[in-house]
Amino acid sequence: MKKNLQTSSTKIWESYYNKSEFHDKWQGNQYPNEELIKFISNQRKNPYDKIRYFEDIKNDFSSKTNFKGNVLEFGFGGLANLLMLKDKGYDCFGLEVSKTSINRAHAYLKKEKIEDIKCKLWKPDTKIPFKDKKFNFIFGLQCIYYNLQLSNLIENIYERLENNGQFLFSFFSFKHEYNKYTDEIDKKRNLVKWSNDHPSFRIRGATLYQPKTENDLKSLFHRFKDLRVFLTESNQLPIFQSWWYISGRKR
Ligand SMILES: C[S@@+](CC[C@H](N)C(=O)[O-])C[C@H]1O[C@@H](n2cnc3c(N)ncnc32)[C@H](O)[C@@H]1O
Repeated sequence: MKKNLQTSSTKIWESYYNKSEFHDKWQGNQYPNEELIKFISNQRKNPYDKIRYFEDIKNDFSSKTNFKGNVLEFGFGGLANLLMLKDKGYDCFGLEVSKTSINRAHAYLKKEKIEDIKCKLWKPDTKIPFKDKKFNFIFGLQCIYYNLQLSNLIENIYERLENNGQFLFSFFSFKHEYNKYTDEIDKKRNLVKWSNDHPSFRIRGATLYQPKTENDLKSLFHRFKDLRVFLTESNQLPIFQSWWYISGRKR
């Protein structure tokens, strides 16, 4: 049953990009995620200590560019996050379940003659591709919970990180208004499905992992060190948004 749920979620996302695009316009965010920008730009700062956080006065610029190493993004959608990370100096690798999104990414990269972003199709329940690569940073924003065998994937992410390599993933917090529009699929495994009255009609029926508490979320990543969850909330849109971001490092 889980396999069917996984396959139909993937199909829902493919049709999100395929069927609802008009005049060849690429759906999705065209600008990078603000929390990711902050996270990367502050990577060389101290996230825990108020005084040490501001101690980089003379190194301010080096905290913004000249990053080195490989990064991998799950669910890159419109490519905006990877374009930003390339700008920062990283070698970028991206995965998407939507073939349409991959085709558009390839066409864009070719047109712009960008060679240091490599994109592949992501097939949930398989191993992470780019077999010869280890990554300094692996992330997935507003998407990783669509992998229903999430613990297996997190295990594979652990293996593919460099020692001390870092991850960042976002999850809906229990306060996000989207939680009003879910049908329970498997209580024990925290699996829910977007219901038929979900206001974002294009994603109705997609199944996802929805942690009930911050501790549920943390326990998924128990192998990592320096685990940290931060919260972002906004009532700017008609739907109240509340996100948990979780980060940590390979031991
Ligand atoms: C809300 S969009 C977010 C896109 C992008 N990450 C961003 O932050 O703008 C969700 C994305 O997750 C992708 N997706 C769907 N199933 C996925 C899965 N099993 N693993 C990773 N990404 C998936 C979708 O194709 C879509 O691009």
